[in-house]
Amino acid sequence: MSKERIGVLTSGGDCPGLNAVLRGVARASHKYGWELIGFKDGFEGMLPPGDFVVLDRVNTAGIMHLGGTMIGTTNRGHFVAKVGEGNVVQVDPQVINKAKETVEKLGLKAVIVIGGDGSMSTAMQLSEAGIPVVGVPKTIDNDLEATAMTFGFDSAVACVADALDRLHTTATSHKRVMILEVMGRHAGWIALHGGLAGGADVILIPEIPYDVDKVIEVIKDRDKTGAKCTMIVIAEGAAPKDGKQLRHAVASGEYRLGGVGEILGQEIGRRVDKEVRACVLGHLQRGGAPTTLDRILGTRFGVKAAQLIAEGKFGHMVSYQNYLTESVPIEQAVHRLRLVSPNCQMVETARAVEISFGD
Ligand code: F6P
Repeated sequence: MSKERIGVLTSGGDCPGLNAVLRGVARASHKYGWELIGFKDGFEGMLPPGDFVVLDRVNTAGIMHLGGTMIGTTNRGHFVAKVGEGNVVQVDPQVINKAKETVEKLGLKAVIVIGGDGSMSTAMQLSEAGIPVVGVPKTIDNDLEATAMTFGFDSAVACVADALDRLHTTATSHKRVMILEVMGRHAGWIALHGGLAGGADVILIPEIPYDVDKVIEVIKDRDKTGAKCTMIVIAEGAAPKDGKQLRHAVASGEYRLGGVGEILGQEIGRRVDKEVRACVLGHLQRGGAPTTLDRILGTRFGVKAAQLIAEGKFGHMVSYQNYLTESVPIEQAVHRLRLVSPNCQMVETARAVEISFGD
């Protein structure tokens, strides 16, 4: 009798820990006696005749510590289900039927979709069309309500802390104001955790609109106390209280965030007699080796996804709750962003160690 087969794909922006998930799925599949195929470049690989590679214990060995995804990914293409302000769009039914055709032709018992909120919207539509799907949440932004944590976040935070450590030396040597712009889209988690870990003096996040006057006050007060520098972390989605997020439209109807650090730097430079420099951390936060935490979380998510298939829990997404891998129906997981609450304990802790949020 031929082996049962399952599929896996990685979709949306890459993120440290994706390869750990793939390795975890491959090893668990071996235990269940399943053959595993990995669709290339996200959902696009599901278009007939199917573009995939067989994943086994041999070719997924030695990949856990590598960033990116060994089977490729995309946040463009035929299966995009969210555009612009997070508006949900229906994937073309013909495209969904084609994906279904591929699943049937390849005789797949189920497909594991590893992706963020947009990819889960697509996964839900595939599931509604009768494709057995299991989701694995992924994003460095850590902004999904349905899971206490996503892999990739810890690696991004480690990158921010490391960048702050490096910037600190120049900042103190030259007595400068240093601004570090970090990712996170509409959520301030990366800025908050990275800023706390890297000893920032000011953290500006989308959830707490900032007042430039307050930021300048912090710089001046620190100067008076003899502090050698002021370290500011600003999330790409942060905005002044009387202004808007800085967005750059892209052809697909999408927009990118970024550039707010430089603008803040120019304003501070005009009003304070100090040298100011801004640095954009950008995609460095998404690359490189995952931290140990993300390797472990990725492995646990991969193993749990295979377990959900074994239990026939299709249409569910892996979720991390109270230190355990659990699952939630995908429809309850999508379109629910978890933002930083301005009164949460992390913000209070940051304020207690004299971090200003510019408010
Ligand atoms: O969602 C992850 C993320 O890295 C965001 O923090 C960032 O705004 C966005 O993706 C960047 O996307 P892209 O790689 O398409 O520019």
